[in-house]
Amino acid sequence: MRVGIMGTGSYVPERILTNNDLAKIVDTNDEWITTRTGIRERRIASDDEATSDLAFKAAEKAIIDAGIDKNEIELIIVATMTQDHLTPSTAALVQDKLGIKAAAFDVSAACTGFIYGFTAGYSFIKAGIYKKVLVIGAETMSRVTDWEDRGTCILFGDGAGAVVLGEVETGGFLASHLAADGSGACELIVPAGGSRKAATAETIENREVYLKMNGREVFKFAVKAFPESVENVLTQQNLTADDIDIFIPHQANVRIIEAIAKRFKQPLDKFFVNLHKYGNTSGASIPIALDEASKEGRFKKGDKIVATGFGGGLTYGSILFEWSK
Ligand code: ACO
Repeated sequence: MRVGIMGTGSYVPERILTNNDLAKIVDTNDEWITTRTGIRERRIASDDEATSDLAFKAAEKAIIDAGIDKNEIELIIVATMTQDHLTPSTAALVQDKLGIKAAAFDVSAACTGFIYGFTAGYSFIKAGIYKKVLVIGAETMSRVTDWEDRGTCILFGDGAGAVVLGEVETGGFLASHLAADGSGACELIVPAGGSRKAATAETIENREVYLKMNGREVFKFAVKAFPESVENVLTQQNLTADDIDIFIPHQANVRIIEAIAKRFKQPLDKFFVNLHKYGNTSGASIPIALDEASKEGRFKKGDKIVATGFGGGLTYGSILFEWSK
């Protein structure tokens, strides 16, 4: 049985925060942000929007795109590092909003979350446990961003993307590679608000409830982990980078994407890029990019696609699949 993407959808909040807007909040400027990252603007959720709200809107669109009845969905997986609450899962909240009966759980693998979720969804279908699985990547990074830290607040944005996985006639899933190196956990971390350190007046005062990142270390990790993961899925199918029609990289920094294109001797236009509009939306970045690339007509039936994520954990991973629609 072939398992693949039946439909895609995405949603980003209306509010746009430009680099010039950020320059009014922290000591930075449009030129620094653009040349170091490629990001020009990002979307910010409104006060009454949480991650499950963005996830729900992306999910509705993916279900319509797949042309199925929402009640056919048997499992909902939400990849997020900015869940509405520590408990319940964001996936359970999305299940309620959709008004369907489905199993639901979250995946915590930061920017690689969608790759982990996709692989889990595929495996549930391949094992014969479920027929259709909704995999969503959704984040409100603005809620864990320290708006006083110019090293991180310029990078992140909010949004959600979703895919419906199910049986397809042609193409579909070909390979997956998932990896983690927990020794680098401290390089990208929200130190407080969990069981190690509770959210107390002191940790809030020390800004430990916000995301801390060692940008240089994460950059070094990304340019090493990314090609390793791509090589892994290519090798599984005896393919080379030349055989891939389009790469969907995690949208963190255009310099990382350029380095990877150079490393594989591939033209940059084989790498889908939309980070100039949304910044780094963590677990949402790959499914948003998939949906936009699809809607822009960048995929044709039979195209071989590699999507790669890397981020907090440290985690990294890739999926290789053939476009079925
Ligand atoms: N505006 C102006 N100057 C700044 C800013 C800013 N926003 N931020 C830092 N600077 C300054 C620094 O203070 C430093 O000044 P100094 O030389 O006087 O000390 C200088 O700019 C250079 O700083 P670096 O941190 O060395 O800049 P770098 O070139 O490494 O770029 C960046 C920083 C963009 C964060 C880069 O390291 C990066 O992209 N790292 C990867 C991040 C990433 O991809 N994360 C993805 C995973 S996210 C997830 O999983 C949730």
